[in-house]
Amino acid sequence: MRQGVTHAMRLEGVVSPPGDKSISHRAALLNTIADGSAHVSNFCVGDDRSAMLQCLRGLGGQLRRHESCSVSGADECFEVTGLGIDGLQEPGDVLDAGNSGTTMRLVSGLLAAQPFFSVISGDGSLRRRPMARILTPLRMMGATVSGRQNGSLAPLVFQGGELNGIEYDMPVASAQLKSSILIAGLSANSPTTAVQPAASRDHTERMMAAMGADIALDDMRVTVRPSRLTSMNVAVPCDTSGAAFWLVAACAHPNASVRINGVGINPTRTGVLMVLEQMGANIRMVNVREDAGELSADLIAESSDLRGTEIAGDIIPAVIDELPVLALAASVASGTTVIRDAAELRVKESDRIAATVEGLNNLGARIEELDDGMSIKGGASLSGAEVRSHGDHRIAMTMAMAGLVATGETTIDQAEAADVSYPDFWETLATLR
Ligand code: S3P
Repeated sequence: MRQGVTHAMRLEGVVSPPGDKSISHRAALLNTIADGSAHVSNFCVGDDRSAMLQCLRGLGGQLRRHESCSVSGADECFEVTGLGIDGLQEPGDVLDAGNSGTTMRLVSGLLAAQPFFSVISGDGSLRRRPMARILTPLRMMGATVSGRQNGSLAPLVFQGGELNGIEYDMPVASAQLKSSILIAGLSANSPTTAVQPAASRDHTERMMAAMGADIALDDMRVTVRPSRLTSMNVAVPCDTSGAAFWLVAACAHPNASVRINGVGINPTRTGVLMVLEQMGANIRMVNVREDAGELSADLIAESSDLRGTEIAGDIIPAVIDELPVLALAASVASGTTVIRDAAELRVKESDRIAATVEGLNNLGARIEELDDGMSIKGGASLSGAEVRSHGDHRIAMTMAMAGLVATGETTIDQAEAADVSYPDFWETLATLR
């Protein structure tokens, strides 16, 4: 599907992005191996949700959708009947994680500890993404697992195994890697420690702790001891990463005021707010609240005089999914922005450094590709053109936001990629103008 986006004279409205993908995935997975039953409301939508639900159901998981939630009163929820830590069953077929790296890496943490055979695979993009990073520690724990190209690529094949705890120095600050190790650690027979090079999103640790796991954080070290979990209702906040598109569009547009309701503001996710604040963004936060250990708030973003900044070092994991859209903010800001230490962007759903530079430069931005980031000369006047999404949801949505700011019309190819995390993105966009 090719999608056209024309310049908006004014951007105004109220948006509620879908439920947070990272929190929804953890709520489904951890409640599946917990004791009891729980309701998860405002569950994320899109293809990545289907991937996680299918994998858990393939393992015997019972996740029933209700059209209204008797616990939270929300429009929809999933009732998850816990199977206990040792209640999963051998899947009868290959588990399909689709486009979802989180599904593949977190579910692999489960599969490593099971006394049965299982295979997990995904789409073309996911089968190109690095998996050795999870297989190395899972093997050190005692898992018998293999994959294509010497255990670096999916499909991944698990033969089951008894796991021992390890202390593992993570080579990358990846929440998916950390979570895979911690999930496996729940079923190990001694404590497991993941040592992070920098803080990455901590939803797994928070949720495990709230569900009664024996888990402790000491600076960059997270230690989990073999634990059973108690089911927990979760009202998922709206996706911080989904909100980021509207935040940047409102700040970068000369005539805008957009309110985004119920957005997750977990400090390991709000790098986008810190960076935008540094750039001089006009964003207010109201109505801060907490549920199941996670904070949320309403955000009001308005036209801003943005200025360039440096985005590098320890903040990168907290802003990793938002860097493409921040490159748009930097393109229209005054001065230069440099993004460094973000080589991880090259192994996301697409090479997001190359895809962002190609797309925004097509519209008239002045971005130079660096090995581990971008150097962006601000002050560009963007004009509509044809751009490619590379089949990547975040690139498609970034290009749409650029299209609102650019003159004329911007056409985005494979625009249906947005369905991976934000199926009503295009309808929402139409309501703001
Ligand atoms: C995620 C972690 C991030 C992020 C991804 C979701 C998660 O990846 O890019 O979209 O839910 O754990 P890494 O932290 O593994 O780089």
